[in-house]
Amino acid sequence: MKNTTYEVTKSNEYFEKAKEVIPGGIFGHYKYAVRDTGPKFFSRSEGAYFWDLDDNRYIDLMCGYGPSILGYNHPEVEEAFKTSSEKGNTVSLASPIMVIVKIEDCYHRVSPWMQDKSRPGIIDSDNEHVLKIKWNDIEGLEELLSLNGDDIACFISSPYDHPVSRDNSLPEEGYWKKITSLCEQYGVLTIVDDVRAGFRINLGGSNVAFDFSPDMICFGKAIANGHPLASLVGKEKLKHSAEKVYFTGTQFFSAPPMAAALATLDQLQKENAPNKLIEYGENLNRRLVKVAEKEGFNLIASGIPSMPYYRLEDVDFETHFRWIDECVRRGVYMLGYHNHFISLAHRNEDIEFIENTAKQAFQSL
Ligand SMILES: Cc1ncc(COP(=O)(O)O)c(C=O)c1O
Repeated sequence: MKNTTYEVTKSNEYFEKAKEVIPGGIFGHYKYAVRDTGPKFFSRSEGAYFWDLDDNRYIDLMCGYGPSILGYNHPEVEEAFKTSSEKGNTVSLASPIMVIVKIEDCYHRVSPWMQDKSRPGIIDSDNEHVLKIKWNDIEGLEELLSLNGDDIACFISSPYDHPVSRDNSLPEEGYWKKITSLCEQYGVLTIVDDVRAGFRINLGGSNVAFDFSPDMICFGKAIANGHPLASLVGKEKLKHSAEKVYFTGTQFFSAPPMAAALATLDQLQKENAPNKLIEYGENLNRRLVKVAEKEGFNLIASGIPSMPYYRLEDVDFETHFRWIDECVRRGVYMLGYHNHFISLAHRNEDIEFIENTAKQAFQSL
């Protein structure tokens, strides 16, 4: 493999232009991921790869922050989307295919109740009804419930802890069984935010893998392989209450993402996706940890293997970020503070490339 590093001249030019009209140049989550030497805009994508404006190719280990579970431009999904679009997108009636009806540092989107008080625009009352416990802290929940049990409506959490800038952590033995039984005792609903991990651990919901049964589960991201869609599912006993909740939006009846979701779920089932993704991630982790060791570094891979979080132990944050930057400059797209994502489009030869790239990146430090 050639030891070349990418130029991102065009990306930088567009970024400077964008800054003239858009606050910070790029809005949303990517704003925090922009690096001087890294790409800023993509020009095309296919399978496990995207190309930037300078026509550099990257193996994408972020998968659009999760949605791309089958790979970009998946033919069956795009065909389903196109066929449905031809019939109509957001029409005045619902489409018949529309059948889908806090732990500290856990992310559940940007609604004010979820945001930290220090963020601009957030006022004290926005999250005064939100109580927090630490991950894997059964006693913390027990204490909160004994003090405020009658006032607590629900307990929301991702199936395992996948915060930013910290090693990811799985539930301890018996954690979820105990949590759900405590919540049931106090009449508190358990809600699992499976937006990020959904379909990468178990197609029935990540709770199946951790052997518990929540009252509600939220899915999003990978459900339609990148087309905008989220879904909330719940137990039968909640249907009547759910019927009374006022919830809608302008694009609520947009049908093509639903068609894309059905095609995605079909493919995921046919491919037995979670097993393949986990197996791939285990192999990738093993090889990256080994290559790090050979080059004198200690790479920690945490979380589930289909969504690995990487951290270099015993070096400062800056060295860790430089290693990530050097991987990106050689064509492997990674992020220093976030878990990564595996898709079914990632191939074994991509692992070789990633391994070699990681090695060269270590050698350049
Ligand atoms: C765990 C989790 N919940 C909720 C969300 C919000 O999803 P969306 O931005 O699609 O509304 C995200 C997005 O990153 C997430 O990772």
